[in-house]
Amino acid sequence: MSLETKKSSSLFLMQDGKSAAEDDVLPDGFKVKKGDGVTYMAYAMGRMTYIWGEDAEEYRPERWLENGIFQPESPFKFAAFQAGPRICLGKEFAYRQMKILAAVLLYFQFRLVDETKEATYRTMFTLHMAGGLNVFAFPRA
Ligand code: HEM
Repeated sequence: MSLETKKSSSLFLMQDGKSAAEDDVLPDGFKVKKGDGVTYMAYAMGRMTYIWGEDAEEYRPERWLENGIFQPESPFKFAAFQAGPRICLGKEFAYRQMKILAAVLLYFQFRLVDETKEATYRTMFTLHMAGGLNVFAFPRA
């Protein structure tokens, strides 16, 4: 698809906008004209029941596993790294980093410093922990 990257406005950091370099037809048949803008919002897409089912907002990482084996989703569905010819070039590198970090974290057990405080995030370009996430770390026996 011939879409050019357009700079996101600072007001809409969670959106990723493109403008059509030429007339085109999207995979669902929707026609775009040269110069038309198309924007998607990965944050919202990651929470849509239409895409992920009724439990879309539940933290259920095992949704990515089948018989214990990781099943990647279509990048057009899990659009955090975008999809198509302009997909993030660092995607595999980012996955590798996440796996290394997850493996290192498994050496420890964690306990929240304040168990009464709700662990939640701030909605920004990247999702920061609101007020940080202070934990005690103990080596696993
Ligand atoms: C969790 C981590 C990351 C996320 C969520 C992410 C997400 C994205 C997204 C959405 C785009 C497309 C932007 C657009 O054209 O609209 C992109 C492009 C790109 N990313 Fe990443 N990225 C991540 C990590 C990285 C890393 C670690 C590298 C490099 C080592 C990297 C290198 C690039 C490059 C070079 C492009 C431009 C590709 C192109 O325009 O052809 N990214 N990334």
